[in-house]
Amino acid sequence: MRFPIAVLILLLFILPLSISGRIRLPLEDLGTAATELLRNPFDTSNYGKLQLNNGLALTPQMGWNSWNFFACDINETVIKETADALVSTGLADHGYNYVNIDDCWSSLLRNGKGELVPDPKTFPSGIKALADYIHGKGLKIGIYSDAGAFTCQVRPGSLFHENVDAELFASWGIDYLKYDNCFNLGIPPKERYPPMRDALNSTGRTIFYSLCEWGQDDPALWAGKVGNSWRTTDDINDSWASMTAIADLNDKWASYAGPGGWNDPDMLEVGNGGMTYPEYRAHFSIWALMKAPLLIGCDARNMTAETLEILSNKEVIAVNQDPLGVQGRKLSAEEEDGCSQVWAGPLSNNRLVVALWNRCSKSVKVTVKWDVIGLSASTNVSVRDLWKHEDVSENVVGGFSAEVDAHDCEMYTFTPIEYISTI
Ligand SMILES: *[C@@H]1O[C@H](CO)[C@@H](O)[C@H](O)[C@H]1NC(C)=O
Ligand SMILES: *[C@@H]1O[C@H](CO)[C@@H](O)[C@H](O)[C@H]1NC(C)=O
Ligand SMILES: *[C@@H]1O[C@H](CO)[C@@H](O)[C@H](O)[C@H]1NC(C)=O
Ligand SMILES: *[C@@H]1O[C@H](CO)[C@@H](O)[C@H](O)[C@H]1NC(C)=O
Ligand SMILES: *[C@@H]1O[C@H](CO)[C@@H](O)[C@H](O)[C@H]1NC(C)=O
Repeated sequence: MRFPIAVLILLLFILPLSISGRIRLPLEDLGTAATELLRNPFDTSNYGKLQLNNGLALTPQMGWNSWNFFACDINETVIKETADALVSTGLADHGYNYVNIDDCWSSLLRNGKGELVPDPKTFPSGIKALADYIHGKGLKIGIYSDAGAFTCQVRPGSLFHENVDAELFASWGIDYLKYDNCFNLGIPPKERYPPMRDALNSTGRTIFYSLCEWGQDDPALWAGKVGNSWRTTDDINDSWASMTAIADLNDKWASYAGPGGWNDPDMLEVGNGGMTYPEYRAHFSIWALMKAPLLIGCDARNMTAETLEILSNKEVIAVNQDPLGVQGRKLSAEEEDGCSQVWAGPLSNNRLVVALWNRCSKSVKVTVKWDVIGLSASTNVSVRDLWKHEDVSENVVGGFSAEVDAHDCEMYTFTPIEYISTI
């Protein structure tokens, strides 16, 4: 069907309106066609936009964290070398700008003034000097503490010491705090996490506040006003089983994410050796689509070409950093155990991101039908492959399929030529 030019121009004007209108549709109001959908890709009824509003996290945070690869075996040398590596590999230019130190940086005891003390063996120059080094490279520095009596590795925690610790972090030039949940004395997270928000705010230094209460108290429901991101699950580990389970758990909270505050399914395992190349590609694709923080968790000083290729995929990163800030989600699951999956979500400029994720143990043809992503069957869509970096087709109608290898994930942007929704 051909459209007169005037109709096309009219469509260009009403598209943004129709999209924002649809985004506000509550799930219950959708017609019968929509109830057949697993999820409504545009359900942002809980869209948590700029609740904390400290000026940060307009898009999900990107950077590196020491835990997944080094655990407790950290020191100032390895942190500096990592900062160097982020710059020399080009990852910093791709947006990975936070260098985050996890647990084990501090001594076992506070000093006479009640302050935390960097471990003199592993951080002999102190954190201020390290912060200056990292800032000198144009990067930002993150640190770690715990909303409990001790950190998970039994260093002093910040519970009841929020103000003195926040002041110290600010005086060192800290840009980011990951705040863990060990030894929490059974006090609910809703009581333990806001005091650190207020303490950070009182320092006058803008500090990214990353909540890590492991999804215990459904933080998506309340943490938007407390932090810039909140963990939705237990720790990830470097396995396919862990990564897929965590993706599904985090998916549940999709409609609560938004600019200023993100669901956090934990740091990336890409490059740590426990998964295959296709599995890591799927991990990175789905984390990007879910608007998850992209925090590299491998040894950035020693990455294979494949690891660097995955982490540097500009088009996939652009999906994660898209200014619309709506978390994509799982929309269909077919085959045995639902292992043939379509994940998708809206992007700015009336586009969609679509991932065809084969979680089956054999190669399958994964199909996305237009009704699943809220398009009318006759809509023409231009499809771009974000891993092959090529336009696949200009005029796809009704549905799109790809043969996907076991545990691999293909990822596309869809640009509907005219955007008419069935929902
Ligand atoms: C610093 O940590 C790295 C990584 O664990 C280790 O290889 C290195 O030997 C350590 N260096 C010092 C001086 O302790
Ligand atoms: C402190 O909170 C206020 C109110 O939300 C906000 O406007 C301000 O930017 C915050 N300041 C810092 C340093 O985070
Ligand atoms: C990793 O996570 C999976 C899934 O939660 C779990 O079954 C497995 O035991 C974990 N492995 C390790 C080494 O902790
Ligand atoms: C670099 O990584 C490889 C595995 O990819 C490992 O075998 C090697 O020991 C690492 N080298 C250093 C210096 O850590
Ligand atoms: C839609 O695509 C079909 C081919 O798939 C093509 O024949 C038709 O001209 C396209 N329509 C528009 C409006 O581009």
